[in-house]
Amino acid sequence: MFESIERLPDDPILGLSAACKLDPNPDKVDVTIGVYMDESGLTPVFEAVQRAQQMITEEEVSKVYMPPVGDADFNRGMQDLLLGAANPALVDSRVACIQTPGGCGALRLGAELIKAANPAARVWLSDPTWTNHIPLLGSVGLEIKSYRYYGAASHAVDFDGMMADLAQVQAGDVVLLHGCCHNPCGADLSQQQWLAVAELAQRNGFTPFVDFAYQGLGDGLEEDAFGVRQLVHSVPEVIVAASCSKNLGLYRERTGAVVFIAADGERAEAIQSQATVAARRIYSMPPAHGALLAGRVLTDAALGQLWREELLQMCNRINDLRTLLVDRLSAASGRDFGFIQQQRGMFSFLGISPGQVEELRQKHSVYMLGSSRINVAGINQHNVDYFAEALARVL
Ligand SMILES: Cc1ncc(COP(=O)(O)O)c(C=O)c1O
Repeated sequence: MFESIERLPDDPILGLSAACKLDPNPDKVDVTIGVYMDESGLTPVFEAVQRAQQMITEEEVSKVYMPPVGDADFNRGMQDLLLGAANPALVDSRVACIQTPGGCGALRLGAELIKAANPAARVWLSDPTWTNHIPLLGSVGLEIKSYRYYGAASHAVDFDGMMADLAQVQAGDVVLLHGCCHNPCGADLSQQQWLAVAELAQRNGFTPFVDFAYQGLGDGLEEDAFGVRQLVHSVPEVIVAASCSKNLGLYRERTGAVVFIAADGERAEAIQSQATVAARRIYSMPPAHGALLAGRVLTDAALGQLWREELLQMCNRINDLRTLLVDRLSAASGRDFGFIQQQRGMFSFLGISPGQVEELRQKHSVYMLGSSRINVAGINQHNVDYFAEALARVL
């Protein structure tokens, strides 16, 4: 049976990170993979999560299955976090929510529902986008289209291009938007631009699907939710795929949620039932541990407060690193890297060629994606000068 199965190449991001681990150069720098790292290069467990874990370990008496829809506290906490507890859509019970295995599971379940509702729907992705969007959404059989998003020359959102492309999107189609901290380019929409996109969605009747994997890592939990909440305010139907991998540090626990804002309560119930059946069809029940931890942090006032403080520190550190990087890169190379400071979240494109990326890796053991996307959180006080000087040498 498997004679004809071919070996596929390794995942380019995971492959690079693995190559960096094997590199004996003590000065090596890994800015490939999208995980937060502290000053010592570690991806820490939040103190609030550790405390929740202790409580749950003491309380837990069974490992029986979760319901397919997931943990009720977690689902409630996530809806409040994404939309704001007083959101009229929540008050009117127009929201369906299902716990998923990470943000990837949320994207996939969202795609399943789109396919069930409108098999002819086309899903519009930003150019560029996170590479995994294409298989995650395309493998359910939806047609994938792309809209202009990042202007390489301006190092910023090509908003005119984006709006011109989105103007052609029809009712029944879906537009995938990055809620904040765009992966891979770090260039986010301004509040004015979100308003314009929401107005276009309302006028043309396309459905926004927001990938919200980095809430709290851009400008703060509430600030980062501006776009999502504006869409929910303006458009009757919105899908949100949320992840707790980054903002709660639960990467390996596979914790996320897909939230559907529907036109009315009856539609929301129908969607919830379809999403539950789709989940059952793919993986049956979600994993428990991460959602129990996140649910506790989100619904316990003291733990919630501690987590918000820890997340804000993380967010501030990333933004401080952006400032530091701009200073050191500009000083070492004599070029203006100020755009890095305008961008948000963990990622930015340096805007160098694939050949220069290769040279950085081979001559200086600096590892980044071929597109020159870097994870800003891979920079720290110890490696920033080495990184800046290496870059200056290949420029
Ligand atoms: C843009 C984006 N969306 C979704 C995800 C999915 O996250 P996870 O499935 O690990 O929760 C990621 C992870 O890196 C991401 O970068």
